[in-house]
Amino acid sequence: MHQQLSVPTVAANSEMSAELWKSAVSVLDANWADDHMVPSRRLYPHQWSWDTAFIAIGLAYTNPTRAWRDLRHLFAAQWPDGRVPHIVFDPRTDERDYFPGPAFWDVPAYAGRPARGSTALVQPPLHAVGAWEVYRRATPHGAECAKEAGEELAWLYPRLVKQQEYLLGRRNAGGDGLASIVHPWESGLDNSPSWDAAMSAVPADVTLLERYERRDNQVADAAHRPTDVDYARYLGLVLNYRAGDYSDTDLAQRHDFVVECPSFNSILASAELALAQIAAVVGADPQPHRERAQQITDAIVKHLYDPQTQTFRVRDVRTRTLSPVRCVNGLVPLMLPGLPAEQAAAIMVEAASERFGLPEQTGLPTPSYDRTAADFDPLRYWRGPIWINVNWLLRRGMQYHGYLGEAEDLRTAMMRLVVKSGHFEYFHPVTGEGIGASAFSWTAALSLDLLADRSIPAYARAA
Ligand code: GLC
Repeated sequence: MHQQLSVPTVAANSEMSAELWKSAVSVLDANWADDHMVPSRRLYPHQWSWDTAFIAIGLAYTNPTRAWRDLRHLFAAQWPDGRVPHIVFDPRTDERDYFPGPAFWDVPAYAGRPARGSTALVQPPLHAVGAWEVYRRATPHGAECAKEAGEELAWLYPRLVKQQEYLLGRRNAGGDGLASIVHPWESGLDNSPSWDAAMSAVPADVTLLERYERRDNQVADAAHRPTDVDYARYLGLVLNYRAGDYSDTDLAQRHDFVVECPSFNSILASAELALAQIAAVVGADPQPHRERAQQITDAIVKHLYDPQTQTFRVRDVRTRTLSPVRCVNGLVPLMLPGLPAEQAAAIMVEAASERFGLPEQTGLPTPSYDRTAADFDPLRYWRGPIWINVNWLLRRGMQYHGYLGEAEDLRTAMMRLVVKSGHFEYFHPVTGEGIGASAFSWTAALSLDLLADRSIPAYARAA
């Protein structure tokens, strides 16, 4: 059953909003693949993990049943150790249509895994936040929606908890209560300069590209995609992880890339806050979730904040050093309601500086990388362009910390950009032109949420 909920009045207020709403709904309709959503039909023809969470936030308005089915489809592929794979492969997509596909990953067969399997990496665990957004939108929408939401939340809760346990347990490679990522793809900010310092120590065997043929730069403009040297490192890291049966034992000693990211860990802490809300609904104890959220927040401030520059950075667990570059993931801790006011203010200073720039200065949402850096690249993905999902997280942070004018400016700047350029994957940070995949699901989904302009969840205020 697919309930189509009504367009919020705010969306119908002007022609522009009604048009944006309509186009977003049609992107999501076109990208629905029977039991899951694809990020983009051509470039990403499978299911991606954190995309599912962002997409749920939009589907909450138009089709909560699909949001729940999408989340179920993802969590049905959860590994016994709790990891939720970053891609769940659609068995109907030909191996030649996406690389690296199931054959490359060659994951061990576990009971309950979908026939063609998944990758072995994770992505930022935003799903509890997504599920909570669907629940709170769906419950006032009639008995049937509320019943479905209650049942789905109860099904998801133990799985979401298991996901957190995996990340806070096996992935606590640095021992400081933060989750490490073992591959840039796990960050969701795949090609960000944040990884350059740690990646420079990873062997780059370009002959791998003779054995394995890239597909990303055939379906998208090669100038926007990672270089061959970077891509060889990406493949090498997977092959190394695979050779150890994707085990996380002794990661810091055995694996060439072990990094703590401020944005990944902020999402991890936010998941605990959402789980506290969910726990209260499903009859579990919310308190341990609240405590864990604060512990992670404290660890982010203690280990990923550089007091000298007053910025959050990525930390290389193997060398215990902070990355020298300033990227948008350093702004994301703003989404933590428990972040001290001093650090929240520092993030706002950095965001408003010429390095990034808020809509007041640039007329545009915030770019993915420092505009003043010598290697700022307006086209190559995560090395300059603007992404709607990260800006959505930032806007939420501004609301939590009382920067309401800035939050509203960012909301309108995001909507203006999508209206002008379309539901693109990312946008040129100077001209606002759409780049990458068109008809991209999370841009469409988050546009619905921006239009509906709902109040922020209560846990933000309580913390
Ligand atoms: C790109 C993005 C990643 C996203 C994926 C599918 O690889 O970097 O964050 O999940 O596309 O949309």
